[in-house]
Amino acid sequence: MSKYILGIESSCDDTCAAVVEGDNNLLSSVVSSQTDVHAKFGGIMPEIASRMHVEQITLVINEALQRANITLDDISAIAVTSGPGLIGSLHVGLQAAKTLALVTGKPLISCHHLAGHIFANTFETKLNYPCLAVVVPGGHTQLVYMKKEFDFKIIGGTQDDAIGEAYDKVARIVNLGYPGGPVIDKAAKLGQPTIKFPYPHAETPLDTSFSGLKTSVINLVHTAEQKGEIINVNDLAASFQQRAVFMIIDCVEEAIKQYGDIKQIVIAGGVAANSYLREQLPLMVQRLRPEIEVLLPRLKYCADNAAMIAVLGSRLYDLKAFSNLNIGVDPNWNIEDFMKEGK
Ligand code: KG4
Ligand code: ZN
Repeated sequence: MSKYILGIESSCDDTCAAVVEGDNNLLSSVVSSQTDVHAKFGGIMPEIASRMHVEQITLVINEALQRANITLDDISAIAVTSGPGLIGSLHVGLQAAKTLALVTGKPLISCHHLAGHIFANTFETKLNYPCLAVVVPGGHTQLVYMKKEFDFKIIGGTQDDAIGEAYDKVARIVNLGYPGGPVIDKAAKLGQPTIKFPYPHAETPLDTSFSGLKTSVINLVHTAEQKGEIINVNDLAASFQQRAVFMIIDCVEEAIKQYGDIKQIVIAGGVAANSYLREQLPLMVQRLRPEIEVLLPRLKYCADNAAMIAVLGSRLYDLKAFSNLNIGVDPNWNIEDFMKEGK
């Protein structure tokens, strides 16, 4: 009998459900985005996000089952994100998943959101260990070294803001809207990196800091405003993007040097959609260690989605990594603890 995994994801501001058949055959992936609502506030309003999840979740699950042309009876297990993320948002998805598990008697599989982003790459090909994941969703920036499957070790990353947050903040300062990543990426292609922002100091070469870069941009814009000067937004975007992306690439370069056994590098999360990162990271690896494979997930698997949760759930189903119905959400779940706590 075929294996069908229903994935549910509601950790932030997208209500998502998807169905994967077998190991990675995606039958459906539904995303109900709240971006337009939060854009009016220039960022995510957690209370609004959870209320909108409540309104959407059953419709989205139903739509995912219908598009996959299956019913709840056909489902082998229900995989759901239970952290990290916004507490109220996470609760909605987990509660829906638990209820479905209870009424159908099918197993519940608790998934880590960032592990989901990493496993989005398995729609392309298998992960090859030791693997280095460049984890860059909106709220995190981490280099995660995996010696073997489900052995996650954070070896570096940001000491303060995530790169995605920096993109969102910079876009807000220059009135380009929310979310900032796609608009800055687009503007950067029209400009030149004429502004040289200071390179941040971090404790180790595997770490970095985006708050200093963000402050540099704020100061530059405020000074220009005070002097009545007009800033070329495209040049600012190109300069910020070049610096931000190379801060990540420099850390990856150092990780390759320090961990001599890396066979594959994957990128994961919303910023993995960034055109400059997707262009420059493979070039650096090609120069430094061409035998390392660089995997870029398709754009539809970079931003939040439930396909990544369903595909991770499919692997966990094989390992019989099932959860009890009494689990709760963990808004600050560290990826190193995933699969270590029997969660
Ligand atoms: O993974 P994601 O959809 O949500 C979280 O798990 O947080 O990531 C959202 C982040 C936002 O900060 C957004 O600005 C950024 O990903 N992003 C990008 C691009 N597309 C989305 N950042 C840079 N370049 C892009 N093309
Ligand atoms: Zn995410």
